[in-house]
Amino acid sequence: MSFLSASTTALKRGIASTATRTHGPNRGMKILAVLYKGGEAAQQEPRLLGTIENQLGIREWLESQGHEYIVTDDKEGPNSVFQQHIKDAEVLITTPFHPGYLTRELIAKAKNLKVCVTAGVGSDHIDLDAAVERDIQVLEVTGSNVVSVAEHVVMNILLLVRNFVPAHEMIERGEWQVSDVARNAFDLEGKVIGTLGAGRIGYRVLERLRPFNPKELLYYDYNPLPGDAAAKIGARRVEDLKDFVSQCDIVTINAPLHDGTKGLINAELLKHFKKGAWIVNTARGAICNTEDVAAALKSGQINGYAGDVWNVQPAPKDHPWRYMKNPLGGGNGMVPHYSGTTLDAQARYAQGTKQILENYFKGKAQEPANIIVGVGKYETKSYGQR
Ligand code: NAI
Repeated sequence: MSFLSASTTALKRGIASTATRTHGPNRGMKILAVLYKGGEAAQQEPRLLGTIENQLGIREWLESQGHEYIVTDDKEGPNSVFQQHIKDAEVLITTPFHPGYLTRELIAKAKNLKVCVTAGVGSDHIDLDAAVERDIQVLEVTGSNVVSVAEHVVMNILLLVRNFVPAHEMIERGEWQVSDVARNAFDLEGKVIGTLGAGRIGYRVLERLRPFNPKELLYYDYNPLPGDAAAKIGARRVEDLKDFVSQCDIVTINAPLHDGTKGLINAELLKHFKKGAWIVNTARGAICNTEDVAAALKSGQINGYAGDVWNVQPAPKDHPWRYMKNPLGGGNGMVPHYSGTTLDAQARYAQGTKQILENYFKGKAQEPANIIVGVGKYETKSYGQR
């Protein structure tokens, strides 16, 4: 039976949103995947590979090798499918879009766990220190969606600076009052744009912004860009964070979430931003303090905030970032976490996940860039200075 028909039957029975499990000869490994629920869209669109319905496209491949593959979106609470099966899974696959939070407590219970694979980029939902202590490897499909995110950042910068969202909402309301939106619309040309974090995404954002003729491109990162890379796009490094934000008209955040970035954008730092600056955050919601950002937007200290990442995902209905506005009733470009899960990105991270698993099964070395935590140590320089 094809997976699609199996999934449709399971959905009718109402169980696919909790888990789909294969009973078979238990020769191989137990592989647990926490993915997001795709619903009708995933049944109609098989390229939505990162969903529980389409299962990264690897079920048949895994089962043909005798592995047991558990896929679920049910991740919260001790009785969830995730927290039950993590106890004896050898491999855990997660996605940042619907993060299965692998805490230190869960790692203590995960007696067989050897490898965590992030289908995408960003592994902050895993307690990386605890993984190091337990010799659990953490691997990502590095680079798989960096272009997807960089394009989203450029779009977000443009929609904030040009006041796009209120203009479109006006049209939907059947109104036409140009001055109401033009009063807060600007050109990107001539602005100072800075990225906090100049890795794969941050660099690509600056690269894509160069043709807009900004006044200056800045970056803040403890890992300096190689000289030729910085020169190619004309980016200047600023070493002090307050100094950095005080020079930028637009700040885009492109650093991972770790102890050094959690709550970094808070009321105290926001005072040092240029009045009326715009912030775009597609990195991680918890890098920004939720209430402080909402208050800064409400007061006009910042003119706009856009991105797709939230401190809790899915974001609750009353999350302030859903409704916050600047004093002119605009400045909010928030969307659900999807910038890195375009169909193009899904094809790449599904393929990359399969490659990582294949390497693991065959005992082959992993691509060095994909290793966040190797056996007993951090292999990346991106999750804080140590
Ligand atoms: P990367 O590892 O290539 O670059 C991250 C950069 O941030 C590094 O240069 C690192 O030195 C810098 N950094 C770390 N801590 C910093 C700090 N305290 N201050 C300044 N810079 C700091 O990672 P990449 O591929 O650019 O991704 C960055 C992040 O973007 C991911 O960790 C993830 O959280 C997020 N992301 C979001 C996606 C989405 O769909 N919204 C998709 C992919 C990634």
